[in-house]
Amino acid sequence: MTDSKQILVTGGAGYIGSHTCVALLEVGYQVVIYDNLSNSHEEVIHRIKKITGKNLTFVKGDIRDKDALKECLANYPCDAVIHFAGLKAVGESVEQPLKYFDNNLVGSLRLLEAMQESNIKTIVFSSSATVYGNPVYLPFDEKHPLAPTNPYGQTKLYIEEILKDIFKSASDWQICILRYFNPVGAHESGLIGEDPQGVPNNLMPFIAQVAVGKRDTLNIWGRDYDTIDGTGVRDYIHVTDLAEGHIRALEYLKDSSKLLVANLGTGKGSSVLQVLNAFEQAVKTTIPHAFKNRRPGDVAEAYANTFIANSLLKWKAKKDLNSMCRDHWHWQQKNPNGYNPK
Ligand code: NAD
Ligand code: UFG
Repeated sequence: MTDSKQILVTGGAGYIGSHTCVALLEVGYQVVIYDNLSNSHEEVIHRIKKITGKNLTFVKGDIRDKDALKECLANYPCDAVIHFAGLKAVGESVEQPLKYFDNNLVGSLRLLEAMQESNIKTIVFSSSATVYGNPVYLPFDEKHPLAPTNPYGQTKLYIEEILKDIFKSASDWQICILRYFNPVGAHESGLIGEDPQGVPNNLMPFIAQVAVGKRDTLNIWGRDYDTIDGTGVRDYIHVTDLAEGHIRALEYLKDSSKLLVANLGTGKGSSVLQVLNAFEQAVKTTIPHAFKNRRPGDVAEAYANTFIANSLLKWKAKKDLNSMCRDHWHWQQKNPNGYNPK
């Protein structure tokens, strides 16, 4: 990068956001994190500075507060926005759909209004493979029918539709919608990583908490799927590879107006048992586990077609499952209670 651009990163204190801030700072961008810390800690800001040796701006604020967003953008003029802020717990979204529509959907509307009123028209948006719903065919490409099966996924789909309509109405916008598959792992320093609140719902954080002795047993949801070993298959992607995808998205958008939707995954599926096995190798011990019934709503297999990201964003995931497990374990070992010192 030649000129030093400033990027507003909503949700930049979170798991994927913090790794992306590190990547942004390392290639010379200036970073303004805007986060209400509803699912993160201010300690993250210090850790990002420690890893990069660079300064950044942190503004504590809610994306639903348009005035606060506009004030932030007036104080710290930005060239583009990377929009991570949102709630992401699928089960909670089924129980409390309004909370999700308010936070994710209304929040995104307020952000887009604040951007428009501040004359910022470049956005990279965190969508999810969850917008595809049950696979009609695999691998999922970006043309696959969209049919999310829960309110969280609906919020992602609606925001995607809003972004597409904005582009139709005013084609001077530059929009990249990134559909992430299953982000795992942590920065190799072990200073930042995923810090789930309560009982983790996702596989790798759960395995990590069993390995570190915080939980007794991993429950494997189903061993009768039509997969390589009967357990569910997903496309796990190292969070630093994912972070790099955002840098490529900004580079792709910089020259002209466009709208792109791209999957970010490895294109390769791994089963629960394969992940468990790789994690056991990282920990160098066995991890207690038990087979249980299938988890309602789960599909047998999900993995990405990554042609668009490979060809247009010039991006490819580099790290394999062993690196994902090694780095996730390093973070968990160094921070058994996450960012909470107790
Ligand atoms: P995260 O919870 O770690 O990070 C989200 C951040 O947004 C948190 O720091 C939180 O405090 C902040 N936030 C939430 N609501 C806010 C609001 N109203 N105003 C300001 N800040 C707010 O989650 P993550 O895993 O880093 O995910 C980042 C984005 O990627 C989310 O939009 C998520 O839906 C999406 N995504 C995540 C996954 C995944 O498995 N982690 C998969 C696909 C898509
Ligand atoms: N699994 C277990 N035991 C656990 C947790 C998970 O066996 O304790 C299994 C699941 O059954 C599944 C696989 O591990 O086969 C992966 O499950 P995750 O919960 O880690 O991931 P999902 O693919 O189910 O869901 C994740 C995010 C969603 C997102 C989706 C697609 O949680 O928000 O990826 O991006 F929508």
